[in-house]
Amino acid sequence: MLSLILFILLAYAWLLKPAQVVHGSGFLYKDIFLLAGQSNMAGRGGVVDEKWDRLVPPEIKPKPSILRFSAKLRWEEAAEPLHADIDVNKTCGVGPGLAFANVIRDKDSSIGVVGLVPCAVGGTNIHEWARGTHLYNQLVRRAMASLNEGGAIRAILWYQGESDTLSKSDAQSYKENLEKFIQNLLSDLNSPMIPIIQVALASGQGPFIETVREAQLGTDLPNVRCVDAKGLPLEVDNLHLTTPAQLTLGEMLADAFLNYFQGSIPITSNAPRR
Ligand SMILES: *[C@@H]1O[C@H](CO)[C@@H](O)[C@H](O)[C@H]1NC(C)=O
Repeated sequence: MLSLILFILLAYAWLLKPAQVVHGSGFLYKDIFLLAGQSNMAGRGGVVDEKWDRLVPPEIKPKPSILRFSAKLRWEEAAEPLHADIDVNKTCGVGPGLAFANVIRDKDSSIGVVGLVPCAVGGTNIHEWARGTHLYNQLVRRAMASLNEGGAIRAILWYQGESDTLSKSDAQSYKENLEKFIQNLLSDLNSPMIPIIQVALASGQGPFIETVREAQLGTDLPNVRCVDAKGLPLEVDNLHLTTPAQLTLGEMLADAFLNYFQGSIPITSNAPRR
């Protein structure tokens, strides 16, 4: 009798063990990160005059342990441009996502397979991300679908606001709109404690950059942290981060995630990283 019970338990354990399944089919636990916002999250590193130079630094070359969730909701090995099938009307280049994934894996051995869920679309302002919009719904839908083959959403990386620097009223209402967006999103993901790491603007499309930056650096929500991209090198358009700048930003996001959210108690303030 005892050996029968033991056998059943062992059989269960075998059935439930995280299988070493080839990605794309079946269960594979992933540390999942959502990437959302506008062009600098989608990635324009190496893009000049709507042409990408195709230069991918060795640090972010594809590897089997870092996956991306395609527009068709399939896991595949992540390669730049990470947002090519999401931000489809623009020429995509290098963004911060792959650098982020590589650095968290290098610095924290408890991170296993990383699953990146690209959702950023260039030229979008905060109103276009409000609850119920196409971008918002797509973000929630892709986030939910990304969990189907195993894994947990570990954080949301958000870099947006350049388009909200064009009008004074957009810039002035940015803080309220951003906080509403974050609260709605966490509630619709049924996960109030998912960390959010946002990027304070390095550039903008209009004159009200400082107003938006103040809103970002002053976001007063639990589990929201901010890294500051100000001063990172920009392409000749003076709007988009270069490829080296995106590698630096990826590392800053990774350090923020590891410092504030890995194995630590929940954070309730939003001090800038530097
Ligand atoms: C691309 O452009 C089409 C046509 O204007 C539009 O319907 C679609 O929403 C755009 N997609 C993205 C991701 O910008």
